Formats: sequence, C-alpha cells, structure tokens
Amino acid sequence: GNSSNKRNFSIIAHIDHGKSTLADRILEYTGTVSKREMKEQLLDKMDLEREKGITIKAQAVTLFYDAKDGKNYELNLIDTPGHVDFIYEVSRSLAACEGAILVVDATQGVEAQTLANVYLALENNLEIIPVINKIDLPNADVEKVKNEIEEVIGLDAQDAVLTSAKTGIGIVDLLEAIVNRIPVPKDSSNEPLRGLIFDSHFDDYRGVVTYIRVMDGVVKKGDKIKVMSTGKEFDILEVGIFSPNMHPTSKLEAGDVGYIISGIKNINDTRVGDTITLIKNPATEPLEGYRQVQPMVFAGLYPLSTDDYEDLRDAISKLQLNDASLLFEPETSSVLGFGFRVGFLGLLHMEIIIERLRREHNIDLISTAPSVIYRVTMDSGEVMEIDNPMNLPKLGIKYIEEPFVKGTIIVPKEFVGNVMELCQQKRGIYKSMEYLDEMRTMISYELPLAEIVIDFYDKLKSRTKGYASFEYEFIGYKESKLVKVDILVSENIVDAFSFIVHSENAYYRGRAMVEKLKEVIPRQQFEVPIQAAMGSRIIARETIRAMRKNVLAKCYGGDISRKRKLLEKQKEGKKRMKSIGNVEIPQEAFLSVLKLD
Ligand code: GTP
Repeated sequence: GNSSNKRNFSIIAHIDHGKSTLADRILEYTGTVSKREMKEQLLDKMDLEREKGITIKAQAVTLFYDAKDGKNYELNLIDTPGHVDFIYEVSRSLAACEGAILVVDATQGVEAQTLANVYLALENNLEIIPVINKIDLPNADVEKVKNEIEEVIGLDAQDAVLTSAKTGIGIVDLLEAIVNRIPVPKDSSNEPLRGLIFDSHFDDYRGVVTYIRVMDGVVKKGDKIKVMSTGKEFDILEVGIFSPNMHPTSKLEAGDVGYIISGIKNINDTRVGDTITLIKNPATEPLEGYRQVQPMVFAGLYPLSTDDYEDLRDAISKLQLNDASLLFEPETSSVLGFGFRVGFLGLLHMEIIIERLRREHNIDLISTAPSVIYRVTMDSGEVMEIDNPMNLPKLGIKYIEEPFVKGTIIVPKEFVGNVMELCQQKRGIYKSMEYLDEMRTMISYELPLAEIVIDFYDKLKSRTKGYASFEYEFIGYKESKLVKVDILVSENIVDAFSFIVHSENAYYRGRAMVEKLKEVIPRQQFEVPIQAAMGSRIIARETIRAMRKNVLAKCYGGDISRKRKLLEKQKEGKKRMKSIGNVEIPQEAFLSVLKLD
C-alpha cells in the first residue's frame, strides 16, 4: 500500500456560509474524472438511471488533483449532514478523515453550528484548516473573523485560506493547503482489515451500498467479511470509489474511502459507526466509538383511512431501508384507531419522514404531537421509559425524569435580554455567557429537550430578528415535576391530545390548548365543549358554538361552476380531518400543542 498521495477530509460550516458552493468549485476545478464519468454515463443510460439515487445522496467523492509539487493526489471529500438531528452521522463521517476544512463566512463570523462542528472535529483529532469564504463581498472583514477564530475557537488563523467560492478566488490555495497540511493516512495495509462504516443507502437494483473508510488492511471482491458488532457475515461482490458515481476498483486499502456491495438486504445490518473485518484474518478490536443511535423524539402516525394501515406499514418499512435510525412499532389510540409509534432523531427528521410518506407514498395521515422519552421511577422501584403521554401510569409514580440538553446560542448583544427571557420561560438553567467581540455574545443554558422540541427554535429566531444561531447536545436525564394534562372533546378524553408538562405550566398550557382547539376545530351542528383536565380535575374549558355551515348560501343559486368550486374547496378542507365521536377534527389540531404561546 502507498498512502502518501491520499488525503481524506470533510468540510464543516455553519449553514449558508458556503459549504456546498465551495465543494462545487473544488469538484469543478479537479473536474477531469467527472468529465470522463459524464461521457460514460451518456453512453449507458441504464447506468445513469441506476446511479441517480447515489449522486443525489453522494456522501463521499474521490477527486484527483495535480498539485504544484508535480504529483497527482487522490483526495476524498466526505460530506457531513448539516443538521443537529444527524450529529452522530457527522461525527462518524469526521472519524473517516484526517482533516477538516472549517468554512467561516467573512461577513458573519463564527456561529453556533461552526463551534459544534469544530468540537466534533477536535474529538476526532482532525487537522483543521480555517477557510474564510465570501471575501468578494464588500462587507467582508477578514481580520475580524481571523481574530474570532483565534479567540472563540482557539485555532491559529494566521494561515487561514481566503476564498470566494462564488468567483473561484483561493480554490487552488485551498487544494494546496489540503495536500500540504492534512496528514497522510496511516499506511497499515499489512494489518488485519478494519473498515469504518460511515454511511449506507439502499439501492433498488443492488441492495445495500455501504460507505467505508479503510483504516487498516485491504478489502477486495470475493472476500468474506463480518460486521464486528453483530458477527453477521457477508461476501464482497464489488468494491469501488465514488468519482462521483460508483466506479468499481480492484481493491480498497488502508487510507481509501469508497463503497462495498455485499448482498446485504437490510440496512440495519450495516449501521453507521460499525467496523467490518475479514473472516479469515479478523481484527481483534473494532474501531472506536460505535454506538446505536437512539431516537429522541416520538410521535404517533395514523392513516386517515383505516384501509391505508397496511400501506402505511409498508411505506415506513421502505423508508427504514434507507434510514436505520427510524424506529417504529404498532400503536393503538382509542380515538385515532390503529397506527404506529415512530421514533425520530429530532423534529427535522420527523418532518422529513412525514412529508415523504405523504408525497412519495401518497398516504394521508395524521401525526400526533411529538414527545420525548420520560424516565418514570415507580414506588415499587420499577423504572419505565415512556415515549407516549397516553402510557403514563395514573398511580404509584415516585418521580419522573426528562432528557436535558446543553444549548449554545450566539447572538448580537442587543438581543441578549430576549434570549435569556425565552430560555427562562423554557425552564432553562443559566450556565455561562461570553463576549465574542464588541458585537456578539455566546450564551449557554441547560434546557429540557421537551421544550426545545416544541417551538424553541422558531421563537428564538423571531425574538432575535433571525440573528441568533443555536446548537444543542444531549447531556442526560434530570428529575422534574411533571404532570399529564388530558384534553376532553364532548366529554371524551382524546388520548392523542394528552401531553406531559411541568406542573408550573400545566394550567397555562391546558388553557392555551383549549383556546387553540377552539380556533382550529370547525363549528359542528351541535355545541362542542373542550376541556383540559389534570387527573379528574378540570383546569380549563371552552365551548365551540353550534353552527350549520352552508357554503352554498352565498351563491344565490346562479353560477354552477362557482358552486362546484366551493364544494370542492370544502371537500379539500375536510381531507385531513379525523372524526372523533361525531366531531370532525383537522390535522392542525393534533399539532396545536406545538403552537401554544
Ligand atoms: P447549506 O447547503 O444550506 O448548508 O448552505 P451552505 O453552507 O452549503 O452554503 P451554500 O454553498 O449553499 O451558500 C449559501 C449562499 O451563499 C448561496 O447563496 C451562495 O451562492 C452564497 N455564497 C457561497 N459562497 C460565496 C462566496 O464566496 N461569495 C458570495 N458572494 N456568495 C457566496
């Protein structure tokens, strides 16, 4: 093996600082390979079809660069998902690299996500190359950003690469910095195989395509491998690199980044962070750091029509083929019928999945409000994990604990008061405050995850005119005074509306919830009382007055097409409604708890 001409790196950045544009410029500049690939694709349309799914999700790409020293280098750029929901994946992608390019916008400076990513890169012992981007903009302030990188992050920024991903300034400097500053991967191809799985996707034609970084040893077609955490064994059918499409090679060796295809049918058999090794000459220890990803947020998904139940199950299973972090199991609600309890990494993940079920699988569904996992210790000493407020025991609870996160917020000075007020409202515990420069402040709080899941980010943005950036990490469970609030519609408990809340906020949230429901549930032909209750005690009540809704009354009998339009509109409006008893309730109502002020 010869790894001296290989460099493996990721680009990390706060959202909008220019990561994608910079990656495009690098791909363009080193474009020789993709030009050839592009031709091949044109010759073979079938392949193009096949590869489509891959280029969309391309998480790794191999580039070839002719450096100023006259040598040709093989550079692997490994992409990292940009959102905190996928932080574990980011961490594993970084573990596959020796270096990271840290992109900071010359007009914005260091942001919360920049910091979170830098910490991950440092944990993985990566060489970090600071890059100050968007230097073409008139308000770029390179010196100030350099100072910030040094003061806030503690990295030497004197040799920061200055770029404009837009105009192409500095791209060669950046490529040279990658070659000269990122460490050469360890050449350990004589050792037993250890390959780090950092991503995978399900391909309809080829089964699971697993993305690996070979840390030690060599892997090639025909090898028999096993996954170290499960002991499951597979035959290697193909190995190759992404350049940017799948391109078979004879082998992958220590220092290489590429893919393996091995007849794996289920993505759960190759989880991100796991290690593969050869059966014949196995490694004794797996690579560091594998852990099972735990969903943090749970919600019930119910088909609007009971006929769609099996379709919904199929659709979630299909999505799961590409997303090992998605968990689900059947759930029944007395008012919503048969559905599934689904576990997500976070709110964004939940929104993406629901949208895909609706759009790609054409399933009309209702989702209940998301919940975190509460840890309930009973008088008997038994400990239960409750991810659904419906299942909170009525009696015998000794105490309840909830997940907490450490939140970091970076914000212009003038908004510090607003941010602190919001964090207090959300039961935050103040930790620290630091001045980044004369303009901006970094505030840190411990916050209950449940409060963040609700609407923290939207509120933070609106109270800081969009200027605040926010990042959080899970820190553990803490005991809290929590109670369950039930909602009754026409005197019946709607289990899907129940929520768990801090006892100090129970009255306020119960009241807000019934007011919100009064707004969003359309009037029926009879009076509908809506109540909030803690146990058997009613804590709030509103009444939706009866009304016979006659949309055609406005049309004076004349215009037929207008009538039809109105009827259609009314039908459309009904579409995502669920009948509870004899009350029609729109989807919006189920998410009301997310929108309480
Ligand atoms: P996400 O994909 O949303 O995470 O953002 P990103 O970090 O990948 O940023 P992206 O590359 O999408 O750039 C964000 C915006 O900044 C886009 O409108 C780009 O056109 C613009 N942009 C990126 N680099 C430069 C630059 O060097 N100069 C200028 N003027 N604009 C840039």
